Amino acid sequence: MLKPNHDPFALAQELSGYHFIDGELIAAQSGETFPVLNPATGQTVGQAAAGDSRDVDEAVASAVHAQRDWASKPARERGKIVAECGRLLNEHVEELGRLVALESGKALRTESRVEASILADSFIYFGGLASELKGETIPYNTTSLTMTIREPVGVVGAIIPWNVPMYLMALKIAPALVAGNSVVVKSAEETPLCCLRVCQLLNQILPKGLFNILSGDGPVCGGPLAEHPDVAKISFTGSVETGRIIHRAAAEKLVPVTLELGGKSPMIVMSDADLDRAVAGAITGVRFTRQGQSCTAASRIFVHSSLIDTFVDQMAEAVDKMVMGDPLDEETDIGTIVSPAQFDRVKTYVNLAKSDPAGTVRECATLPTDEHLKTGLFVQPAIITGLSNDHKVAKEEIFGPVTCVIPFETYAEAIHMANDSEYGLAATIWTQDLSVAMRAVHELEAGFVQVNQNVVVQPMLPYGGVKTSGIGKEASLDSMLEHFTHRKTIIINMN
Ligand code: NAI
Ligand code: MG
Repeated sequence: MLKPNHDPFALAQELSGYHFIDGELIAAQSGETFPVLNPATGQTVGQAAAGDSRDVDEAVASAVHAQRDWASKPARERGKIVAECGRLLNEHVEELGRLVALESGKALRTESRVEASILADSFIYFGGLASELKGETIPYNTTSLTMTIREPVGVVGAIIPWNVPMYLMALKIAPALVAGNSVVVKSAEETPLCCLRVCQLLNQILPKGLFNILSGDGPVCGGPLAEHPDVAKISFTGSVETGRIIHRAAAEKLVPVTLELGGKSPMIVMSDADLDRAVAGAITGVRFTRQGQSCTAASRIFVHSSLIDTFVDQMAEAVDKMVMGDPLDEETDIGTIVSPAQFDRVKTYVNLAKSDPAGTVRECATLPTDEHLKTGLFVQPAIITGLSNDHKVAKEEIFGPVTCVIPFETYAEAIHMANDSEYGLAATIWTQDLSVAMRAVHELEAGFVQVNQNVVVQPMLPYGGVKTSGIGKEASLDSMLEHFTHRKTIIINMN
């Protein structure tokens, strides 16, 4: 068994240049690699294999082969193996936390270690659900046994993003494996090595070929995976734009998809809200410790006009106390943006808000001054006021530590603005009035609504959006049954 390696720099070197296919670390057929950066310094810390359709073909062939035997194992035996994967990952929480912190720039204490831990937990959760892969009997007539059974779909293609790479990958592969499928993952360009390490670790337990992983460019490596004729299901998390491309590829082959896309999630603070709780909830909700790189980030905060000034002051004061710094430092609350491209994107939106005479941008916390972090992709958390709900900055997904605070007078106005968005992923309302809360949970157009809290999704909570935020749910029992199995109807005529 591989020993945990707590030196992420050494581990990144060790894993450099490989896919994991058919039980082996293997270089890309092109022989090419691309650099993996430490966004806190801008330095190259490793290389990733540059996959293309040839690697996809090899990985899918291996997955097709492995799936048959796996599907014939009793469900609980598969579940036990998947739960064992979770226990193994638990022994590597520190290692994986450090590696994802190095690649993604997310702070170890507040984000990266937490991700590694929930990654392990996801496997334990889904492993325990194996016995729920039940069919049903149907009262068709009294002379036959009429029933449904659930069968695996076959090979699942999973294309994943960089913001919570290991956990979002687990929400696809753990249920897919328990249900009897095999998987081929295409990791995000920014965070290939942490996901490769998870695959390498789990291949010590799983039969070879059941879980393969490729790194590479989206269109060049992800495209052929989505289009591959032997990939029977595609599960994708990422941007709306790429989601549409994936959906088209699936339409061409007529295979099902799960799409977990963007958000511009509203938070409504009513005049009777507990202000201190709402401020603390906003700080968690904007996901400042993840630099706002979350599709459920509370990126639009609607506050009753009687509270808005105090709310913004208290929020800014609290964010000012957060420590920005080296992601691997235990003191750090807030690390860096993941990549130069995302950094430019976030800066563009902040500058747009600054250049609007109506906008006020409060930049909070202090940029690190350490010499080695001078070239790091740090962005100060920004609380923006004065812009309306239809301003570009309040409308489009920024994926940065940025939120727009917008006043309202009436409940109806708040709900109208909250729903006036192409997205519908998550929403929260803060009030002491149960009847207002109850009305809002029905009226908010979102897949995930919380009252007086804003936590991140956890295994067992069905998670997914409406409108352009996506199709289908993840993270729950029903998601495993709906998205990773087919129902077969059987009639045994005994007449
Ligand atoms: P993206 O959607 O382009 O990338 C996500 C994954 O899709 C990556 O693995 C990428 O390689 C792959 N991909 C890209 N183009 C592809 C194609 N043509 N065929 C197959 N696979 C393809 O997102 P990106 O460019 O990293 O970020 C852009 C914006 O998307 C962000 O600023 C954010 O607004 C949003 N986003 C949302 C996420 C979410 O959790 N819902 C996660 C990441 C990004
Ligand atoms: Mg993209």
